[in-house]
Amino acid sequence: KRRIGVMTSGGDAPGMNGAVRAVVRMAIYNNCEAFAIFEGYDGLVKGGDMIKEMKWQDVRGYLMEGGTLIGTARCKEFMQRDGRRTAAKNMILKGIDALVICGGDGSLTGADKFRAEWPSLLEELVESKELTAEQIEPFKHLNIVGLVGSIDNDLSMTDATIGCYSSLARICEAIDSVDTTATSHQRAFVVETMGRHCGWLTLMAGVATGSDFIFIPEKPAEEGWQENMLHCIRQHRAMGKRKTIVIVAEGAIDTNLNKITPNQIKDILSGAGLDTRVTTLGHVQRGGQPAAYDRMLSTLQGVEAVKAVLEATPETPSPVICINENKIVRRPLLEAVAQTLEVGKAIERKDFNTAMRLRDAEFAE
Ligand code: F6P
Repeated sequence: KRRIGVMTSGGDAPGMNGAVRAVVRMAIYNNCEAFAIFEGYDGLVKGGDMIKEMKWQDVRGYLMEGGTLIGTARCKEFMQRDGRRTAAKNMILKGIDALVICGGDGSLTGADKFRAEWPSLLEELVESKELTAEQIEPFKHLNIVGLVGSIDNDLSMTDATIGCYSSLARICEAIDSVDTTATSHQRAFVVETMGRHCGWLTLMAGVATGSDFIFIPEKPAEEGWQENMLHCIRQHRAMGKRKTIVIVAEGAIDTNLNKITPNQIKDILSGAGLDTRVTTLGHVQRGGQPAAYDRMLSTLQGVEAVKAVLEATPETPSPVICINENKIVRRPLLEAVAQTLEVGKAIERKDFNTAMRLRDAEFAE
């Protein structure tokens, strides 16, 4: 029986549990055994009880739970070759040679590196007599399949990452609440949103809440942005709007790549005579129950991930499970990560049009 491991890694995202549940159940449905690796790569390096077989009923109730019930951690040991060798040994001891990882681009790149090193790690384990040649014989290749779990929606080649729509819904709810108090006092609010170097959450929240102005990393504020913003806000006020909402992505910058901060915007708005407050949404955006979309996406993608494991050959490059135009598809993991990294490089060299184009289609338009 094939043994498939599933783990969550990096920042948690709503929907990760749905992915774990789908992988476990699809594996069992296909007559395989499923193993959860607890606490991300940490669990892989520690082995033992941190790698636990999961039965059908072990993932009952997972679909509607936020965060990740099998835990996640940032693991320094796995960054070192020694740590990865220990991880390989722990996997062989459990008979696992396929891993489905739900995480961000860093976690997925780490996984593919592990796959590339796998044969030499096994050789080292035999040389050091930690394992015998017979023990490693059935496990010549490691299959890696990526699922993108992140509220940031920052991976290229997929329209949505697991978690981004739950986070967007939570941000909108929070801004709706801010709205009522802002309207009552005719105040201005500057709301800071997460997303790391990606402005998707901010852009979509701006559209979904009808905010007055937004700042995102991919479209840095151009010279004179202070006046443009005030002009825009004055126009809205002149039309009878009693409140002002400006949303700033945590990665927002100007065209000189200087960070734009909520307090900086607050000072500008206050200077223009608006009674202004700053609200930082923080980890509220990442927590709580997954939205229906993320339950659906994580389930369909978890199912596809197991199919990808079962169909993989030693030559198949590691896939990442994506969604494009409403279809669940497989894309080459390394290419998706490389394209994502290109966005950052384009921003660094101030080629903002390319940065926008390399993001999802909706950004480019
Ligand atoms: O990647 C998800 C994310 O929530 C980002 O939006 C944010 O920049 C970062 O993680 C926060 O990380 P931490 O939880 O380690 O503070």
